[in-house]
Amino acid sequence: MAASPAVMRMLASRVSWRTAPPWAYHCQEKYGYVWVALEDPLAPIPDFPEERSGRHRRILQFYELWKTSPVRMMENSFDNSHFSFVHKANFGLFNQPKPAPYEFRDTDYGFEAETLVPIRNPEESFRITGTREPITHRHLVNRYYLPFSRRFGCHYPASGIDHVIYNCATPIDDGRMMLAQWLYRSDSEADCSTEELIAWDKAITIEDRDILEATDPDACIDTRRRVEFHMSSDKPGLVIRQKLLALLQAHGEEEVHG
Ligand SMILES: [Fe+2]
Repeated sequence: MAASPAVMRMLASRVSWRTAPPWAYHCQEKYGYVWVALEDPLAPIPDFPEERSGRHRRILQFYELWKTSPVRMMENSFDNSHFSFVHKANFGLFNQPKPAPYEFRDTDYGFEAETLVPIRNPEESFRITGTREPITHRHLVNRYYLPFSRRFGCHYPASGIDHVIYNCATPIDDGRMMLAQWLYRSDSEADCSTEELIAWDKAITIEDRDILEATDPDACIDTRRRVEFHMSSDKPGLVIRQKLLALLQAHGEEEVHG
């Protein structure tokens, strides 16, 4: 899908300096970033409750260029079947590839998807997970925010630690995007340092990026075109497509594809 006016109006991205008219844009600071809407925004900046919980520290992790599209990044981030393969070098359970099912809740901003996922817990991740058991669990309450923002709402039941990541994927053109990622942790700097948390998540995001950059960025949004085929664990990606298509059509637009 190519970037469309309706999608761009829903986007709030980190600021880019513009010298051409009209000279001024809607602009707001939130979550450590400057958010800019290039036209009148269709929705407010999403509410991320960890910011005001008083229990979480915010860690700005990554702001980097990826050679893929936001749809690819979003669908991958909700895909429970990729952990065992893409992340087998750290938390993925290669011998247990059956994807955990999601419980879906439709929301005004997108959807919420909840699940319990078993993960490998090698010694290097003891301070990340807060537990020393070889297999532990992530209780995930993930959220999708139209068009290209996402919450990875991870809670480790064994330790009580929250590891909640937010991503915003801003398209640059049809084949490149900027990925912003920040983290909320409910433990202290002494429990697990900012440096450790960035290093841990860095390895995981590189694994995702390498796979995504190997795919065609021109993701098919209107599945009636029958360009791509899906299995049951792809449901989040299909709901994302339905919601994006509905957004386009609500503004008199259609998908533009290669
Ligand atoms: Fe991943």
